[in-house]
Amino acid sequence: MRALLSKAPGGPETLTIDEMPDPVAGAGEVVVAVKACAINYPDVLVIEDKYQFRPQRPFAPGGEISGVVESVGEGVTEFAPGDRVMCNTSMNGLSERVVVREAALYRLPDGRTFEEGASLLLTYGTTIHALIDRGHLKEGDTLLVLGAAGGVGLAAIELGKAFGARVVAAVSSDEKAAAAREAGADETIVYARAPFDKDQSKALAEQFKAAAGKEGYQVIYDPVGGDYAEPALRSIGWEGRYLVVGFPAGIPKLPLNLTLLKSCDVCGVFWGAFAARDPEGNRAHIDHLFRLWADGKIAPRVTEVFPFNRGGDAIAKMAARGAIGKLVVRVAD
Ligand SMILES: NC(=O)c1ccc[n+]([C@@H]2O[C@H](COP(=O)([O-])OP(=O)(O)OC[C@H]3O[C@@H](n4cnc5c(N)ncnc54)[C@H](OP(=O)(O)O)[C@@H]3O)[C@@H](O)[C@H]2O)c1
Repeated sequence: MRALLSKAPGGPETLTIDEMPDPVAGAGEVVVAVKACAINYPDVLVIEDKYQFRPQRPFAPGGEISGVVESVGEGVTEFAPGDRVMCNTSMNGLSERVVVREAALYRLPDGRTFEEGASLLLTYGTTIHALIDRGHLKEGDTLLVLGAAGGVGLAAIELGKAFGARVVAAVSSDEKAAAAREAGADETIVYARAPFDKDQSKALAEQFKAAAGKEGYQVIYDPVGGDYAEPALRSIGWEGRYLVVGFPAGIPKLPLNLTLLKSCDVCGVFWGAFAARDPEGNRAHIDHLFRLWADGKIAPRVTEVFPFNRGGDAIAKMAARGAIGKLVVRVAD
């Protein structure tokens, strides 16, 4: 089979399509012929050895896929060849075939495309865990979402609305603001591009505060970090929850006196570790997502589909801050 491989640390231009041995399903495992693979920011990081873990090379990036079951290993009872499925793979998604545990598979609902199916689990799975388990978001809360037109950002807008919050979406361009409004944001803020000096940081905090109303935000969802984090934290409400999701703009340092002044919590979010430690809790969240999807409350927004031989371009677009919603690579027809 062919895979888009990282053989040495580097940017997307270092990835090459090469032959790899076909995977074989062991006991409790399934081989999936991959149709589509969605790109996520961890793909930008992992090929440069900047992610939380460093897979052994060669490996293919790509953490969530959809496809068709090709073969099943001993003891597999729930799936059979020909079934349309979707799953998280953490990596190796940009390959023609992947082997996954049966327990990690979900059925792709009838009528949904492979592109949509590849775009649900990681972004919405992260975000439902963040908003419910870490953020305790309630109906009537005001939620601020940074980087709101990105993959997890759009998921946070949709889920925030589905859970009855007022959602303020902050983004870096008018085009991204339009995408955020289309996803249901009640209000949008267009912020400047970092780095910020002290005055710019203060002005951004005022912008966030003005959109919050006098009670501030009960929950802030931050998949951006960098110079955006401190102004956002300054706009949080009394006993608010600040959700630390990711750092494409850099890892920020926060003055802890701000947490005392608002009696607020800064909460780390690590969905992959949560799913491994609490598989039942994670499965309940994913079942909830499938219900919201069926009811039309959420819908993965695939904005661009790349052919397999241009998979690296999809990762490059995300690295350059150019992605709106989900970028998906069509691995096979
Ligand atoms: N904690 C977890 O469990 C978990 C799970 C999944 C993803 N994540 C993390 O969440 C973050 C977002 O992932 P994603 O897949 O949604 O990515 P994405 O679609 O690229 O969204 C990231 C957003 O960050 C903003 N941004 C600000 N500065 C940037 C820069 N220098 N380069 C690129 N983007 C920049 C961009 O929005 P604006 O241009 O509007 O600012 C962009 O839309 C990543 O850090 C990822 O690792 C964490």
